[in-house]
Amino acid sequence: MHVARLSLTDFRNYERAELELGPGATVLVGRNGQGKTNLVESIGYLATLGSHRVSGDQALVRAGAESAIVRALLVHGDRQLLLELQLNRQGANRAQLNRSPVKTRELPRYAHTVLFAPEDLAIVRGEPGVRRRMLDELLVQRSPRLAGVMGDYDRVLRQRNTLLKSARARGLGADKLTTLDIWDERLVALGAELIDQRLALLAELADPLAAAYHSIVDADHGPSLQPVLSIDGAVAEDDDEPRSAPRADAADASGEASADGSAASATGAAAVPTAERFAAALRGLRRKELERGVTLAGPHRDDVLLLLNGLPAKGYASHGESWSFALALRLAAAELLRRDSATGDPVLVLDDVFAELDRLRRERLAAAIGGYEQVLVTAAVLEDVPEPLTATIVHIDAGRIVDAPAPPAHPASASAPDDAPAAEEGATA
Ligand SMILES: Nc1ncnc2c1ncn2[C@@H]1O[C@H](COP(=O)(O)OP(=O)(O)OP(=O)(O)O)[C@@H](O)[C@H]1O
Ligand SMILES: [Mg+2]
Repeated sequence: MHVARLSLTDFRNYERAELELGPGATVLVGRNGQGKTNLVESIGYLATLGSHRVSGDQALVRAGAESAIVRALLVHGDRQLLLELQLNRQGANRAQLNRSPVKTRELPRYAHTVLFAPEDLAIVRGEPGVRRRMLDELLVQRSPRLAGVMGDYDRVLRQRNTLLKSARARGLGADKLTTLDIWDERLVALGAELIDQRLALLAELADPLAAAYHSIVDADHGPSLQPVLSIDGAVAEDDDEPRSAPRADAADASGEASADGSAASATGAAAVPTAERFAAALRGLRRKELERGVTLAGPHRDDVLLLLNGLPAKGYASHGESWSFALALRLAAAELLRRDSATGDPVLVLDDVFAELDRLRRERLAAAIGGYEQVLVTAAVLEDVPEPLTATIVHIDAGRIVDAPAPPAHPASASAPDDAPAAEEGATA
């Protein structure tokens, strides 16, 4: 798919903006703080119903305005779809598809993007929650119905935690225990599905990840992904217990759990269905959960270990290797979306990525993304962007699109605009 037209009203620092886009690569250039990321963020929002920079929508509505509107004309082969989203400060957001109201959560069915951003380094170096979010976003883009399963799981988890807390505060009667059993059943049913979906996704990512990493680095560092499952006794590192001490009371429910969580998933435990292991883990943890007042096992406590040459990338990999791993993960995600999506290629958005890379990796990344239907690149310095991607350049200045070129009829016929001032405007403030 590609975005043929984007209109913004009161979105971030755009009061009103209209941009025609063609297939192929477009570079958005402008000094720092002019609105380049804001613009691509709006497209990403349609695909994920979230921003890669903030949680919550308030910051997306222009200061002083009550609501923001993002309207995008998408082209899927010979079909055109007009998506419209209104983000409201007060009240629920609203969405339209071809001018008819639809549920907001329907939009990601039609808009697929993969965003590469400097923040992606946190996938490798950050907390487990960043990795869970990356996997879950990809799952939802591939199977939108999973957003519902995730929402239900979060709700059941919150209610179960409330019950555990009140039980801790007031002592637990037999009636509460029965209620807890009921919540356990629902938590396990929803959670087991999410765990299985994530495991299947990790397996599917393996080959595209290796290929993508190789295409960027040209060395075989054997990048791999290993699930770290709390239901098998592994403790993700953002949780409050040391990873090196798997919980004894969960471990008996799950077989062996090694320090990195690998053994349980690699050996006997995996033969037992996920739901059974999850239920057993909750039984084993119940006393501790009642003491602590929180749910200690489930997909909300899981992690995935990123390995290079068999060593955890976090803590061992160099800065450049970590970056390459993050880029390779995004490329692998794009490859999966391209493979199985009825909407064709996802739109690739590279926000400020080239400034972070050396020349060789810039060129390799440009080659790796070259075949995608549409690639949107932002850069403060045009010279950072490899030449093959710079056929179409749009200048952004203080929330205005300065000189958007008419989109080329065919990407091949795009001629580079005469942009002597580009180099100056591209200078970093
Ligand atoms: N809700 C909002 N209302 C008004 N202005 C906003 C809002 N949110 C962000 N901004 C402004 O948008 C600007 C940042 O835009 P953006 O992040 O897109 O910059 P950029 O062009 O990507 O810069 P850089 O090159 O530094 O990444 C800031 O000046 C910020 O104050
Ligand atoms: Mg930016």
